[in-house]
Amino acid sequence: PSQRRELKARAAALLKARNAVLVAHYYVDGDLQDLALETGGIVSDSLEMARFGRDHAAQTLVVAGVRFMGESAKILSPEKRVLMPDLDATCSLDLGCPAEEFARFCDAHPDRKVVVYANTSAAVKARADWMVTSSCALEIVSHLKAQGEKILWAPDRHLGRYIQEQTGADMLMWNGACIVHDEFKGLELDLLREQHPDAMILVHPESPKSVVDKAHVVGSTSALIKAVVEGQAHEYIVATDNGILHRMRQLAPGKVLIEAPTAGNSATCKSCAHCPWMAMNGLQGVVDCLEQGLGEIQVEEPVRAQAKACIDRMLDFTA
Ligand code: 13P
Ligand code: SF4
Repeated sequence: PSQRRELKARAAALLKARNAVLVAHYYVDGDLQDLALETGGIVSDSLEMARFGRDHAAQTLVVAGVRFMGESAKILSPEKRVLMPDLDATCSLDLGCPAEEFARFCDAHPDRKVVVYANTSAAVKARADWMVTSSCALEIVSHLKAQGEKILWAPDRHLGRYIQEQTGADMLMWNGACIVHDEFKGLELDLLREQHPDAMILVHPESPKSVVDKAHVVGSTSALIKAVVEGQAHEYIVATDNGILHRMRQLAPGKVLIEAPTAGNSATCKSCAHCPWMAMNGLQGVVDCLEQGLGEIQVEEPVRAQAKACIDRMLDFTA
């Protein structure tokens, strides 16, 4: 612990000395979340991370999360230096949607508006009309449906199905999934809720239908945190990456938080309830990227400018 404290103090001093700000996701290590908040940065969902990085005056952003989050920051602020603690931190949704294959899918359906989830590469975003995150996907798809648009959706099939069920929009879907949320199990959740009949069930919409259907609240990471803070219940079953429990415990200290069941446990299943790529972010990585300039994100033109258009559309819509 004293080593961790020292490392954290070093990272804080470096952030200050380099006029840099730390932008962290709720799934990263608790020390990094605390460091971000203690040094004037932010810990938030992917929508707010993008907005905060764009609007902050610092010329260096350190993005603790996965690669698409760093790329979105760079796309929005090409003049800033965007560093990541580990450039290999990716996402199964991004990996499962290669740009060229995706472009062929789009080419085959020119009559549809292309809506992609934030968890994609810059090249995929460059081919899209809209980017959405889980906190605004419902609103944006409802808006497009009201305008009579048909939609091509990528890459998360669970989030896509949930949005389709809620809005009734005509959506053609890519077949991607998050390896973390895909592991939550509806039957085991039934057994757990029998033991905790008064618990509120909070589910991220990247989870399978059998889990989403049992939720009291379905929403983005910030929506799930708000549900714990404002909820009347004493117990909460949480179906999302367990990195989120750190912030939930801080903001709602009296409440009981229970992890939703997965098929395996941490001994048998590496991705169960914690994203292996989010876990690659650590204090040492923050120190190294600031001290040695490692982990800098680059997004080449014209891909960057094309991708920016679809992110801006979302940011303007949700402003
Ligand atoms: P949020 O936008 O809800 O923070 O989700 C990002 C993510 O990667 C979820 O797995
Ligand atoms: Fe991607 Fe899932 Fe990890 Fe989020 S939790 S970054 S969706 S693999």
